[in-house]
Amino acid sequence: MITDLRDGTRHRLGPLDQIPYGEGRAFAVAGEQIAIFRMRDGCLRAVSAVCPHRGGPIADGQIDAKQVLCPLHMNAFDLTTGCSSTGADPLTTYHVSVDGDQIVLVL
Ligand code: FES
Repeated sequence: MITDLRDGTRHRLGPLDQIPYGEGRAFAVAGEQIAIFRMRDGCLRAVSAVCPHRGGPIADGQIDAKQVLCPLHMNAFDLTTGCSSTGADPLTTYHVSVDGDQIVLVL
């Protein structure tokens, strides 16, 4: 999904160091539940935090360099595209960046 930054609202979510490398955290932003992952290479990825399969907590899933595994039934989702390689419906993806030491999500 391509987000047009001109149409989105920027939400500052606090300091980057609240998310350890290789982990995710869930944020409530404008009524949406968003999982933000800090990849081991330092990049951020943002996807919907509720698994489309049966509502599992995506932010608690294990990640590798490319995808997240939902902890409930192990469906796999690409963190860039949101697409599932195991047949589940896709996650929604969001644009996330860092401004200084702050996480900024566009929604
Ligand atoms: S709830 Fe996520 S894989 Fe089933």
